[in-house]
Amino acid sequence: YPFWAQETAPLTPREATGRIVCANCHLAQKAAEVEIPQAVLPDTVFEAVVKIPYDLDSQQVLGDGSKGGLNVGAVLMLPEGFKIAPPDRLSEELKEKVGGTYFQPYREDMENVVIVGPLPGEQYQEIVFPVLSPDPAKDKSINYGKFAVHLGANRGRGQIYPTGLLSNNNAFKAPKAGTISEVNALEAGGYQLILTTADGTETVDIPAGPELIVSAGQTVEAGEFLTNNPNVGGFGQKDTEVVLQNPTRIKFLVLFLAGIMLSQILLVLKKKQIEKVQAAELNF
Ligand code: HEM
Repeated sequence: YPFWAQETAPLTPREATGRIVCANCHLAQKAAEVEIPQAVLPDTVFEAVVKIPYDLDSQQVLGDGSKGGLNVGAVLMLPEGFKIAPPDRLSEELKEKVGGTYFQPYREDMENVVIVGPLPGEQYQEIVFPVLSPDPAKDKSINYGKFAVHLGANRGRGQIYPTGLLSNNNAFKAPKAGTISEVNALEAGGYQLILTTADGTETVDIPAGPELIVSAGQTVEAGEFLTNNPNVGGFGQKDTEVVLQNPTRIKFLVLFLAGIMLSQILLVLKKKQIEKVQAAELNF
């Protein structure tokens, strides 16, 4: 969950390597996309559309071992000064697109890093973030330029709890080489395996959820899978950029181009005039 990222990495969700911390517990990789404009003007509201695609027919194992749908969540790291637009700046159309999604800053003093979720995946394969760009004219710490945007987005349950324990959304492995002498189905779901190894016996507990792929009497290697991998979800990262564009720069560019066009036309007209004079002189 995004709040576990806040808990385990309170300063920033992005490690020095560029990895977003959700990946520490959501071990499988799946695609994630973010669509934002190439450039935005200051003090302007725009959409950042986050896409977290997956097969909506797929079901995952829940905490109690039963099957159910997937939830999604994301962290969007916008450039310094950018933030979620206040409701009174949203157009009716944008309000409708955003719906009831609740955006939360990653840190109280970090409004540009935003988390959402968990949200039901059926409705939120696409999450629209309404973003307000900063105004360098009003805030001297902000400059015009090109800045990085990072997305981390996840669907489905993670593999590791903040305590370090494995969730039941994992493929379980044999801790040592040996022979499976007993397979006991537990009342609460799951299994207890008795593994006879070279130096005694060992019990292996498998929670409800993953399906057993070994049986009593079978010999296994250390690290061999005892269950299937029930995980159908995964985490994805995407890095992109946005330009905070200075409007006066655009105005000067347009003026400059218009100036060049005008002088080119005048040069052509002058050439035509000279050609006429030359033609007239030839007739004398
Ligand atoms: C569950 C997103 C970080 C461990 C979830 C779910 C979402 C999510 C959407 C619900 C999935 C479902 O019900 O289908 C995220 C995002 C993260 C993040 C976006 C980063 C910003 C972490 C971290 C950890 C973690 C850092 C580990 C410390 C888990 C686990 C579950 C889970 C174990 C399953 C909980 C359960 O149902 O028992 N996460 N997560 N997540 N997350 Fe994360």
